[in-house]
Amino acid sequence: MSFPNDFAWGAATASYQIEGAVDADGRGRSVWDSYCARPGAIWEGQSGAVACDHYHRWREDVALMRQVGLGAYRFSIAWPRVMPEGDGTANAKGLGFYDRLVDELLAAGIQPWPTLFHWDYPQALFDRGGWLSPDSPEWFADYTRAVVERLGDRVGHWFTLNEPQCFIGFGHRDAIQAPGLKLSRAEVLRAGHHALLAHGRAVQVIRGASKIPCKVGYAPVGWSKIPATDSPDDVEAARRATFAVTDDEPIDNAWWMDPVYLGRYPEDGLRLYGADAPRVGSGDMETIAQPLDFQAFNTYQGTPIRAGADGRPERVPLPEGYAMTFFYGSVTPEALYWTPRFMHERYRLPVVISENGTSNADWVALDGKVHDPQRIDYVRRYLLALERAGDDGAGIAGYFLWSFMDNFEWSHGFKQRFGLVHVDFPTGTRTLKDSALWYRDIIATNGEALHRDP
Ligand code: FCB
Repeated sequence: MSFPNDFAWGAATASYQIEGAVDADGRGRSVWDSYCARPGAIWEGQSGAVACDHYHRWREDVALMRQVGLGAYRFSIAWPRVMPEGDGTANAKGLGFYDRLVDELLAAGIQPWPTLFHWDYPQALFDRGGWLSPDSPEWFADYTRAVVERLGDRVGHWFTLNEPQCFIGFGHRDAIQAPGLKLSRAEVLRAGHHALLAHGRAVQVIRGASKIPCKVGYAPVGWSKIPATDSPDDVEAARRATFAVTDDEPIDNAWWMDPVYLGRYPEDGLRLYGADAPRVGSGDMETIAQPLDFQAFNTYQGTPIRAGADGRPERVPLPEGYAMTFFYGSVTPEALYWTPRFMHERYRLPVVISENGTSNADWVALDGKVHDPQRIDYVRRYLLALERAGDDGAGIAGYFLWSFMDNFEWSHGFKQRFGLVHVDFPTGTRTLKDSALWYRDIIATNGEALHRDP
């Protein structure tokens, strides 16, 4: 079989990772600006202050997207550009940037799929309590309204939050991302509950303020558990592990997905967290569980799971010397077969892969090109698995390769290159990698070319 005709072939980026121009046109400070200034927080003391300078080079970047033939582009909107103080008056210049970007994308035949929040939280709101504040869902709703009033006559697809597991878990529990806090478990879960409420409020605002029919989704991490063998017992063990809240870290799938898609926190999570579980106010779960048009998740790798002797899921180590990416784990394309299937069975919505890709040791070769055969092979394997998931009923609707261009990889600075486009950061020069040209063929043939050797 093949990909559906209206499948969204895309690539993704995020504001702080590409835009730079942190002081331009009245942008407020974000928690990432502050975190990067913390000694030792980021590799080599780097920051997103300049990054790809996309804020100034966006026209050139959209022209490159057109060259690749992208059907859809997932980017994020910087909250502190739109509302420098986080709430209150919107900054017309900040909104103007996204306004022009959306027009340029539409003129290039590329669907804009903006994400409202990909981690660059306004510092001013952090200083007023941040995600721990019970006001935080309303702050996010106000910001969302300003964005949708400006762009909602043209934008047909929205994502609310990117990976709450990371900005809450890594940011507020482990201090390895902004804002760099180590809060108690109860506080982390409370901040997470507010983030879920913010998601729900944003969906309500988008539905109310959009001037055109639009589709709305949410982009958490999809921690992938794959069966170690095809035996029904191992498949069942992987399915159970995909939705179990077993871990002491609030990072599991179901904790972040069940409230949104099913309107409740999972029982095992509530048992595990006990008195630390968030206090759920009346009406909270209805707000969080707004109907959505698709389910999205970001997946890079899967953990093999088998049924243990007592039938319980058990992790199986990868064979020694197993293929690993440059960063972020194993080459396990089964992740894009099983996870879409399990998610679709449970939540019954069309599946969009909002991020998938690999970092690679890419540089400009003596012939002036960037050869990245590993990325081509990685993406080819994962897309073939996704196609098979679609054949087996997973309702696949879109795929966003992370990332359109090399960018600022958070705490890892510029040493991780995930792009289809190589960026020489000191000069800003862009070069399409071999993978970009290959991906162009995949898009142009609606996936048919995946079945030919590159
Ligand atoms: C995801 C993030 C994205 C990027 C990729 C590599 O967790 O959403 O911004 O850092 O990982």
